[in-house]
Amino acid sequence: MVQVAVLGYGTVGSGVVEVLENNKKMITPRAGEELNVKYILDLRDFPGDPYESKVVHDVNVILEDPEIRVICETMGGINPAYDFSKKALMAGKSVCTSNKELVAAHGPELLRLAKENKCNYLFGASVGGGIPIIRPINYSLTAEKIESIHGILNGTTNYILTKMDKEGADFEEVLKEAQEKGYAERNPEADVEGHDACRKIAILSSLMTGKYVKYEDIYTEGITKITSADFKYAKALNKSIKLLAMSKDEGDGYMAMVSPCMISQEHPLYCVSDVFNAVFVHGNMLGDSMFYGRGAGKLATASAVVADVIDSARHLGKTVTCIWDEEVVSLKDYKDSAKKFFVRVKNEGADKAASLFGYIEKIEVVDGEFGFVTEVMTEREFASKVEQLPEMITRIRVEF
Ligand code: HSE
Repeated sequence: MVQVAVLGYGTVGSGVVEVLENNKKMITPRAGEELNVKYILDLRDFPGDPYESKVVHDVNVILEDPEIRVICETMGGINPAYDFSKKALMAGKSVCTSNKELVAAHGPELLRLAKENKCNYLFGASVGGGIPIIRPINYSLTAEKIESIHGILNGTTNYILTKMDKEGADFEEVLKEAQEKGYAERNPEADVEGHDACRKIAILSSLMTGKYVKYEDIYTEGITKITSADFKYAKALNKSIKLLAMSKDEGDGYMAMVSPCMISQEHPLYCVSDVFNAVFVHGNMLGDSMFYGRGAGKLATASAVVADVIDSARHLGKTVTCIWDEEVVSLKDYKDSAKKFFVRVKNEGADKAASLFGYIEKIEVVDGEFGFVTEVMTEREFASKVEQLPEMITRIRVEF
């Protein structure tokens, strides 16, 4: 029997216990041994909970118990999860986590500690919730040079943008409704400003490069400035607007960015709606592949944590390979990356827009203004042109 402890009995932590219990019959042969939850760490007590007797308040009970071989860190946040994870790994206990903040901030160090102590630091649930994407990158796409990754990695913002698209509603209105339904946090900043997607693409970019892509280096824009008028233009162009987290090997360096982008109806990411997530990977041999599913939620995320617990049980005393060095990748300045831009301009700026951007095919769906799509140009070129166009209302990157 492999003894397991769960740190944090919140949404994901309680889901982990539920998945382990409900699917025990299937899990035992897959893990090679029965997995038993011996402790649950939480500050709170849970009177009446079926696992009440397993709740402890002192992490040292878990860290000092030699029977515990695997720990699920489902606390979230950097502290104290970082300290607990380091101590667990140094004690030779594998750690399985859904904590993208911690993985993005300290992943390479925690992986090194796992290797030094012949155990594992597994983080399959940290990106895309229940979608298998970390293990495919580590195990299945190892023959590939991954040239780009485009992800819809945040369920909250995808839900909001889908509603805005389908119902013609404005951001604030949909956010309020999403908060009432529990789809958005009361403090939605991490989601709507793109910080959550930024951590997730930092993790995927690190696995893509095998080195350390720091989330602080990734240019990030959220969705708070997107309006219902923008969606009218997107519709006229047969496109939608999605919050894309992307990472590209541009030949002369790696570029990573999080930004709302227009994407066309022909692209597979166009159909990814509501709270769903997807990761679109382009490899130099395979070409395109897409991973789709529930990027959040109790049981979907818990399922990914438990899959890592099973992998840990299969590899007791051995570290599975994960190439993510501590060497920091120096990302290309996003201003040097090139793409098309969709631009909205007040009617009085029409002549200036034409002289700055050349031929313009006007899209007219809102009174007093028009929209157009530029040719491919660098962010820097685009910025220098629109500096001379005070009549510009807004711009949205066009990715596909
Ligand atoms: N807030 C995140 C989302 C939860 O909306 O996708 C999953 O990481």
